[in-house]
Amino acid sequence: MKLAVCPGSFDPVTNGHLDIIRRAAALADRVIVVVMTNASKHTMFTMEERVAMLRTATVDLPNVEIDAYDGLLADYARRVGADAIVKGLRAVTDFEYEFQMALTNRQLHADAETVFLTTSADLMYLSSSVVKQVAMYGGDISGFVPASVLDAVLQKTKG
Ligand code: PNS
Repeated sequence: MKLAVCPGSFDPVTNGHLDIIRRAAALADRVIVVVMTNASKHTMFTMEERVAMLRTATVDLPNVEIDAYDGLLADYARRVGADAIVKGLRAVTDFEYEFQMALTNRQLHADAETVFLTTSADLMYLSSSVVKQVAMYGGDISGFVPASVLDAVLQKTKG
């Protein structure tokens, strides 16, 4: 696979996301991680902050680039000429929503295949929402996010 796109809201990027990004980077020549808007989520971090956190967290992956796009994923995939849209599947509960998005994206832009990678078993429970909730109540999130993201989350949750 030449070019894979890994979309998400990444608010913030977690070790679960990084697991998927690393595995996508092993499958594709080039990976663009694209920070997008999820219309059903309010974000803690701005688009620029999410991009900066991802850049730092993926600095050791030479074939991974970070971008941002405030529009349809299908349009972005067409614009960059992506062969695949790579997404992580954590559990059966993710499936219906991801299936609906994959079919919609195929309808809008048939050239990019959606590819699902299963999250590593030890990261199955992890999500950005869980990270934010634990941090908000003073819990330890150091095992959930890369070190570079830890401070940023603690700063935000301090108020
Ligand atoms: O990390 P998330 O929040 O699960 O990612 C969801 C995201 C941002 C990939 C999705 O909401 C999306 O593709 N947003 C861009 C707008 C779009 O294309 N929506 C239609 C897809 S059905």
